[in-house]
Amino acid sequence: MTILTYDCTAFDGQKPGTSGLRKKTRVFMKPGYLECFVQSIFNAIGGVAGKTLVVGGDGRFFNAEAIQTILRMAAANGAECMIVGQDGLMSTPAASHLIRKRGADGGLILSASHNPGGIDADFGLKFNTANGGPAPESVTDAIFEATKTIDHYKTLDTADIDLTGIAETALGDTRIEIEDPVVDYAMLMEELFDFDALRALFESGFTMRFDAMHAVTGPYAKALFEDLLGAPDGTVMNAVPSMDFGKGHPDPNPIWAKPLVDLVMSPDGPDFAAASDGDGDRNMILGKGIYVTPSDSLAVLAANAHLAPAYERGIAGIARSMPTSAACDRVADAYGIECFETPTGWKYFGNLLDAGRVTLCGEESAGTGSDHVREKDGLWAVLLWLNILAVRRMSVKDVLLDHWQTYGRNYYSRHDYEALDTGTAQELIADLTDRLDSLAGQSFGACTVTKADIFSYFDPVDGAQSHNQGLRIFFEGGSRAVLRLSGTGTDGATLRVYLERYEGPAGDLTLTPQIALHEIATATAEITGLAVRTGRTAPDVIT
Ligand code: G1P
Ligand code: ZN
Repeated sequence: MTILTYDCTAFDGQKPGTSGLRKKTRVFMKPGYLECFVQSIFNAIGGVAGKTLVVGGDGRFFNAEAIQTILRMAAANGAECMIVGQDGLMSTPAASHLIRKRGADGGLILSASHNPGGIDADFGLKFNTANGGPAPESVTDAIFEATKTIDHYKTLDTADIDLTGIAETALGDTRIEIEDPVVDYAMLMEELFDFDALRALFESGFTMRFDAMHAVTGPYAKALFEDLLGAPDGTVMNAVPSMDFGKGHPDPNPIWAKPLVDLVMSPDGPDFAAASDGDGDRNMILGKGIYVTPSDSLAVLAANAHLAPAYERGIAGIARSMPTSAACDRVADAYGIECFETPTGWKYFGNLLDAGRVTLCGEESAGTGSDHVREKDGLWAVLLWLNILAVRRMSVKDVLLDHWQTYGRNYYSRHDYEALDTGTAQELIADLTDRLDSLAGQSFGACTVTKADIFSYFDPVDGAQSHNQGLRIFFEGGSRAVLRLSGTGTDGATLRVYLERYEGPAGDLTLTPQIALHEIATATAEITGLAVRTGRTAPDVIT
């Protein structure tokens, strides 16, 4: 087997975003594009000679080819061992777990998460470090620097490896271990949760639907819910992973998982429903007749985590991304534990988790997780909810009402304006940034601004600083609006507007969120001049 060294010219724009490098699939398929990025990762981490890496992906179009390229390049660069998911598949949380369990030096995860898959859709690649978490900014910055100067990459002249069976094989001097990641992941879940209580819940007639959205979690969900916990066949919908996610968006929100939402809102719908995204790290939770916002879900999980064996001694602290609602802050206050506000992206939770400062983390974008891995984890969130329901024997709706009656309700919604002209979106943000200091004291409709700023984060563990992490406008009464541009989109710019308003326990807790937030939305539109600047009168996606 010969090591081939190819000269290459650096590609522009290989800058990892909120979660790795995301591009149109055709961009990743350009000759040398993937190779340059992979070699840049290897170069930035001091090479892979003698190292063990985990590699797997969400099975989207180009996953199979990209894995073979990565394996050949890792072998040519002297890796000792590559742990690969069977058929090249691995959910993101399962990859995080395997990196930790096997003591690997890191991992490569092939996914564009909840973005659609296909030759005309999206592809992505991210590097996770030895703690199992997404590479921190210091590493992604080093990778980006390496992409600018790369002039050659190494690969082998070998045929593709057969990844269909569980086997140990070799590529040059590199050991290739093909694993079924479902087994390890299911074992971990069994350690965390009370599976006997969960089996008893299903035996009592409790009904559930899990929508795997034709993505990577189908086999995991079937193994867990149907095989291990005894839920009837058919509990898991859309369970077979497909390269284009059944031509849908594998994004677990009320828009893209509408059939599931319609089902659970119908009179004879199941007691509980949930969905996960392309690579299995996001989750959506629903109960009969009710949708649980991710921010509320984090707060409910934090308030009730002690009901599951893994967290019975209580949780150390909570972290949430800045745009996530402050619902969990109230739980942290009540329990007397720390609560951290970090920039958007799971990579900012890693240090807090490693240092034992927090046990639970969450983002408004349907991400919740704990210190069991270093990624958000969709199925984990579903199982923790089930464990709580199995102990409390209440409906999801009653659990939520009880929560609001205890802590009050943070009405919350995110409005996304997608595929905006990049220049227009950047101007909107730049102009608002210039006016931020003058906003305090001004009234817009019924809302008066108390403070406006740009969010910066100072990592309390390693002191790293992250600036420009979103614009915040605070209103009298504790309401706020947050604006930031997406770091994962691949079409122009996506502007995210996050709206929040707090209502105390004695207030009106059952308003429709868009109505509860109407005044803040109107004030924010006036402040930003959004409609005039973008020509958009309504968001493309409301979650
Ligand atoms: C989005 C979410 C963010 C999440 C990321 C990766 O990033 O908003 O919370 O961590 O996807 O799943 P954004 O597109 O907003 O940069
Ligand atoms: Zn994802």
